Amino acid sequence: MFQSTLVAGRHSAERGTILPRMITPLEGEVSKQNRSSTKAFRAWFVTGTDTGVGKTFATCVLIHAARAQGFAALGMKPVAAGAEQTGGERLNEDTLRLRAAGSFDPGPELITPYCLRTPASPHIAAEKESVRIEPQGIRQAFDALQQRCERLFVEGVGGLLAPLGERIDASSIARELGLPVILVTGLRLGCINHTLLTAEAIAARGLYLAGWIANALGPEMPHQRQNIDALRQRIDAPLLGTLPHTPGTAPAALAHFISLPS
Ligand SMILES: Nc1ncnc2c1ncn2[C@@H]1O[C@H](COP(=O)(O)OP(=O)(O)OP(=O)(O)O)[C@@H](O)[C@H]1O
Ligand SMILES: [Mg+2]
Repeated sequence: MFQSTLVAGRHSAERGTILPRMITPLEGEVSKQNRSSTKAFRAWFVTGTDTGVGKTFATCVLIHAARAQGFAALGMKPVAAGAEQTGGERLNEDTLRLRAAGSFDPGPELITPYCLRTPASPHIAAEKESVRIEPQGIRQAFDALQQRCERLFVEGVGGLLAPLGERIDASSIARELGLPVILVTGLRLGCINHTLLTAEAIAARGLYLAGWIANALGPEMPHQRQNIDALRQRIDAPLLGTLPHTPGTAPAALAHFISLPS
C-alpha cells in the first residue's frame, strides 16, 4: 500500500502519508466555542451531471450565498486532475476559484489534498503519478477545515461515478464524509436524462439529495423553462435556484439566485 506525500499542495514522488498543515487562526475564522447553534457546522457535496457543467461555478455562488447570510464559508475540491506546476506550487484552476470565493484562504493543500498534474480521469492521473487516493486523506483535510468554518461546500470531480481508484469513485467522497448532495444540472440537450440518472445513482448509494441547481451553460437553451419544469416534476428535492449564463460575472453578484438547502 502506498500514499502520496503532500507538500504545499503538490505531491512529491516520495511515498508516505499526507502531511497536515499547521493550523493557525486567520482573519474571518471562527472558533467552535463561539458558534451559536444556528451556526453549527454544515457541509454538502456538490456533484454535477457531467464534467464542465458548472460545479465550480455553482459552488462559488453557494459559498457567497452562505457568506451573505453571515456564515464563514469555504469550498473544497478534494481531488483535482489537471494542474500547472509553477515553482514549488502545483495549482489547479478549481482550487484557485474556490480559494478566492471563501471567507478566508486556508491554503491549497487543505482545499485540494489530492492535486494531480495530469488532466485525465482521476484514477488514470493517480496511477500515472503513483498516487493512491484514500478517503481517509480527504477526511483529514475536511476535518481540519471543519474546525475553521461554518459552511463547507465540497466539489466532486467529474460526474458522480467518476473513478478515483480501483474501488472508489467521486460518490465515495460524499459517503466517507457523510454529506448530503447538491446536484448541478448543466442546462443543455440531454440534461433531463443525465439529471434523473444522477439522482437515481445518488439514492442507490444511500446518499441524500438536498437540492439541485439549474445552471445555464449557454446564452439561451431552447425550451429551458420546460426542461426545468420536467425536472421539477420528477426530482424529489428542491430546486435551489437557476443560474443565468453570465460570463465574467463575479460569483458574489449571483448569490441572490440561490437558496441554501434547509
Ligand atoms: N452560468 C454560467 N455562466 C457563465 N459561465 C459559466 C456558467 N456556468 C459555467 N460557466 C463556465 O463554464 C466552464 C465550466 O464550468 P465549471 O468549471 O464550473 O464546471 P465544472 O463542472 O466545475 O467542471 P469540472 O468537471 O472540470 O470541475 C467554466 O469556464 C465556467 O466559468
Ligand atoms: Mg470544477
